[in-house]
Amino acid sequence: MFFAGGCESCHITPGQIDPLQLGGGLKLRTPFGSFYPPNISNDRDFAIGAWSDVDLANALLSGVSPKGEHLYPAFPYTSYQHMMPSDVADLIAFLRTLPAVPGRPPAHRLHFPFSVRRGIGLWKLLFFENAGLPSDPRQSAEWNLGRYLVEGPGHCGECHTPRNLLGAMKRHLRLTGAPVPDGKGNAPNLTQSLAKWTDADIVEALSSGFTPDGDVLGGGMAGVVRNLAELPKSDLEAIATYLKSLPPLGRPSSAKP
Ligand code: HEC
Ligand code: HEC
Repeated sequence: MFFAGGCESCHITPGQIDPLQLGGGLKLRTPFGSFYPPNISNDRDFAIGAWSDVDLANALLSGVSPKGEHLYPAFPYTSYQHMMPSDVADLIAFLRTLPAVPGRPPAHRLHFPFSVRRGIGLWKLLFFENAGLPSDPRQSAEWNLGRYLVEGPGHCGECHTPRNLLGAMKRHLRLTGAPVPDGKGNAPNLTQSLAKWTDADIVEALSSGFTPDGDVLGGGMAGVVRNLAELPKSDLEAIATYLKSLPPLGRPSSAKP
């Protein structure tokens, strides 16, 4: 779950290659300003060492801090909300085994009015349904696992789904491609660009980064591949099954604009 959720790609300390040192502080550029993801190591003073399991589950599933403040959806709880309670429990148990890293990252630098944390409450009222992802009995177990990994912990839509002006994902255009939040390049339309890929091509690309055309997946996808490579092959096969089942929607996009 830690690798499926890609926690380290946002929460590592800059200059740090060990994915288990979650001191935070990597600058995350967005159209709303720059976020500096917090320290989520086991430090009791600077991070989540003193948080209860319920505090952590509330943050992941509801985007709420122990003080009852709303968290910014730059933390992709809009996807993590779909995680199964048993997976959340496993993830929390794993996070507890990670080392304490001292230090507090810089404060976010956001443009007004996004700098006002209270405003997130209204945003959530409009765009956050705080719901699970019931499995679809008409589909196979593998398809349901793939959808779960993509829409839930894997948060693929956070880059591959277009957003509205307030930064909420346009659910009806799910996975149809979008500029990545930091403005560097595009995440391709996964409902179209994979039409000629076999399931094995998708599994290969997600675990090694090599595409059937001989390209190497880069940009924000490089970190995703680094994490997905840690997953069992059966999980990647399930993701491939789900992606291949998506009906073509939206405009075709090329990975390299
Ligand atoms: C796309 C980047 C991104 C990813 C991936 C990500 N986070 Fe975060 N996370 C953030 C940001 C940004 C915040 C700060 C939100 C705020 O200030 O309201 C945050 C906040 C948090 C918090 C609240 C900490 C605090 O001190 O308030 C927790 C806990 C957390 N993340 C855990 C996780 C876990 C566990 C994962 C993996 C399942 C994860 N995050 C993946 C960006 C990310
Ligand atoms: C941080 C942003 C980000 C996230 C999260 C993300 N992707 Fe990507 N993805 C990209 C970008 C950017 C590219 C284009 C990379 C390139 O061309 O070098 C890409 C490319 C791809 C491709 C290749 C498509 C093609 O036509 O070449 C596949 C397949 C893919 N992503 C699947 C996924 C899956 C599955 C997930 C979730 C487990 C995911 N992505 C999560 C940003 C992201």
